[in-house]
Amino acid sequence: MQGPRTPESHELKQVVDFLNSNLRQDNKWPITSEYPTALSQSNIHNMSIICEDEKIIAHAVLKTLVIKTPIAIFKVGAIGSVVTDPDHRHLGYSTKNIEKCIELAKEQECDVVVLWTDQFDFYRKMGFELAGYDYSYVIENETPIKNKDLRFVTGNNVDPAALQKLYSQHTVHALRTNEDFKQFLKIPNSNLYTAWDKQNQIVAYAVEGKGLDLINYVHEWAGQTPALIDLFNYIHQQKKQTLTVMTPAHSKNLHQQLGAQAAMTHQGYLGMLKLINKTQLLVKIKKAFRAEGLDLIVFEEQNGKIVFGYGMDLYTLDNEADLIQILFGPLDIHALDFMSAEAKEKLSKLLPMPLWIWGWDSI
Ligand SMILES: CC(C)(COP(=O)(O)OP(=O)(O)OC[C@H]1O[C@@H](n2cnc3c(N)ncnc32)[C@H](O)[C@@H]1OP(=O)(O)O)[C@@H](O)C(=O)NCCC(=O)NCCS
Repeated sequence: MQGPRTPESHELKQVVDFLNSNLRQDNKWPITSEYPTALSQSNIHNMSIICEDEKIIAHAVLKTLVIKTPIAIFKVGAIGSVVTDPDHRHLGYSTKNIEKCIELAKEQECDVVVLWTDQFDFYRKMGFELAGYDYSYVIENETPIKNKDLRFVTGNNVDPAALQKLYSQHTVHALRTNEDFKQFLKIPNSNLYTAWDKQNQIVAYAVEGKGLDLINYVHEWAGQTPALIDLFNYIHQQKKQTLTVMTPAHSKNLHQQLGAQAAMTHQGYLGMLKLINKTQLLVKIKKAFRAEGLDLIVFEEQNGKIVFGYGMDLYTLDNEADLIQILFGPLDIHALDFMSAEAKEKLSKLLPMPLWIWGWDSI
């Protein structure tokens, strides 16, 4: 066994062949086209592989994202394409690759790492916990388009700069370049829908599907709420299928309007998260509280425990999983019985903090 290690440049083809044969056997497209910014030569330094007899037998990849939020800028490491050859499973190889990705994320000063999985217990052993929010709205019934002046277009042939302009108005978003948008527009089965006003200006966009994932899920959207609601209803009319719209917790207007028309609402998690540079993250959080005039905020690590609270009103957390759920949800400060009403009031000014990863950035 050799590794975990990052592949050499010339090994990229071997990595991609390994991933295609293990994760995309029946597919018409290479896995690289689904994750163009993660599984690329420019991100090879963030891949981790384990080899045996010169053959790759396990892989995982890290993609770092710089996420702007109203509270702080977070650096988040997304981990994906975790896979071990079926003949070499249960030997600890994926655990090793994930540990290597975490090490890479630490070196690159990520605050947290995130991954999307249904194997919760496997990742809990490594300190990941379900955290953050993801609200899904299921659109089943036909709803008429309200704004008759809007023109809707189905198709990915849209200027990436126009999408970027709408996207960057989100209060929470990962920084992207126009080139990133260009790459995302080429992802197979990723269908872009746009709404245009009378002046031919783009006013909203929404993306459904992404390779093998998120079919009939709108995982990425931007624009004004009324235009978005019309756009979602247009997509539903076009597809004639149940459509699910994924939204962050902080999109209050959209929640109200989608909630009123959706057949079903589901509150889930953003993903499985793990804190990896606790001190750095706690410094960012304290800075944000102080900027709000809440100078006596306490968030410290002491002897492996987290001490937090306000002024002399201090509490201890033994479990890191609780901390991540307090910081990013869904643990509600008001539900913490042991805390005083005053500390609850102060801490809930900024907690839980909004964190969201738009669909094209997920890996
Ligand atoms: C999920 C997957 C990545 C795990 O890979 P793996 O290399 O077998 O993972 P590990 O060996 O590190 O851990 C697997 C299990 O073996 C156990 N294990 C680890 N080292 C061990 C050892 N030396 N001896 C015995 N068991 C061991 C782990 O505790 C873990 O137990 P669990 O399944 O009860 O949680 C693999 O099954 C896979 O490739 N599946 C298909 C793709 C997939 O689903 N990927 C996940 C996307 S998020």
